[in-house]
Amino acid sequence: MKKTALTGIKPTGSPHIGNYLGAICPALELTKNHDALYFIADYHALTTVTDKKLLKEQIYGLAATWLASGLDPEKVTFYRQSDMPEVFELSWILSCCASKGLLNRAHAYKASVDNNEATGNDPDYGINCGLFYYPILMAADILMFSSHVVPVGQDQKQHLEITRDIAQAFNQTYGNILTVPEPLIQENVKTVPGIDGRKMSKSYDNVIPLYSTEKKLKKRINQIVTDSKEVEDVKDPDNCNLFEIYTYFASPEDIEKTRGRYLAGGLPYGELKKELFELINNFVSEGREKYNHLMEDKKQIDNILAEGAQKARSISIPLMAEIRKAIGVQ
Ligand code: TRP
Repeated sequence: MKKTALTGIKPTGSPHIGNYLGAICPALELTKNHDALYFIADYHALTTVTDKKLLKEQIYGLAATWLASGLDPEKVTFYRQSDMPEVFELSWILSCCASKGLLNRAHAYKASVDNNEATGNDPDYGINCGLFYYPILMAADILMFSSHVVPVGQDQKQHLEITRDIAQAFNQTYGNILTVPEPLIQENVKTVPGIDGRKMSKSYDNVIPLYSTEKKLKKRINQIVTDSKEVEDVKDPDNCNLFEIYTYFASPEDIEKTRGRYLAGGLPYGELKKELFELINNFVSEGREKYNHLMEDKKQIDNILAEGAQKARSISIPLMAEIRKAIGVQ
C-alpha cells in the first residue's frame, strides 16, 4: 500500500521561482510514489489576508500555478480547505486535546508576544485568536486524512511536532484512531536567493515571479543586485547571487563556461542577465501559457477543485463518523 502524502499551501502571494524550485517541484516528485492530497489552505490565510477580492484572486492564482506546473488532478487529490467542513469540526475536538501551553510555545505566536513585550505593549496586543489557534487547524488538516508524510519547509517543523503531540493525546484518550504523521523536510533543496541575495521571499520583496508576463520577468531580472565591478574586472562567481540564480537554470557546461568568464574578467553583468532572462523565460513559457489559460477560465479551476473536494470528503466523512462515535457524541 502506498503511503499518503499531504500538504497545504497558503494563498498569500504570487508564487515565485523560489516556491517552484523549493516546494512545488519536490511535492510533485513525491506524487509519483505516494497517494497525494494537496490543498489550498485558504482559511489559514485568513489570519493575515482580509481583502476578500485579493484572497479570491490568490486562491485562483495558486490553484492555476500548481495545475500549470504539472499537478495532475486525476492522480492528486487537489482541493480547497474551506470545502472540508469535517476539518473544522475536527479542529474543535483537537483543541480540547491540546494544552494551551503547547500553543503558547508555537513560534509564530511567541514571536508576536516577544515583539509586544519588547515594545512595551500588552503581550497579546494585536494578536488575533486565529494566529494562536493556527497550529490546531493545521493538525486537523493533516489528521483528517490519516496522512503518513507531510512535505514542508523547515519553518513548519514545529507545527508537525504539535500535530504529533495532539494526535498522541487524542489516541491516548479515545483509542488508536488518528495516524501520527512524519514531517518530510527536504534538506537537499537549496534556498534560492532573491534579487538582493537574501532568501527569496515575498516578505523581503525580492522575488522573481514564476508565471507573470515577460516584461515583468525581464524587469525583475534586471534588478538583480550585483557588485559594482567594471566589465574587464575579474569577478567572484561564488559570491554573486546573479551567478547563483543562473546555476538553477543553466546546463552544467554553461555554468562552467560562465564561471570561467567571471574568473577571466570581461563579462558584463548585463549580458548574463539577458542570458538568464532567456533561460527562465524558456523554462516557464509552457507553464505560463497553461496558467494564463486557466486564469481566463476560472470555471475550470472551480470544477477541478470541486471534484477534488468530493474525493477528499470520501475520506474525511467516514473518519469523522468514527471519531464522533469514539468521543461519545454519537
Ligand atoms: N502552515 C503551512 C505554511 O504556512 C500551510 C499549511 C496549512 C499546511 N495546513 C497545512 C502545511 C497542513 C502542511 C500540512 O506553509
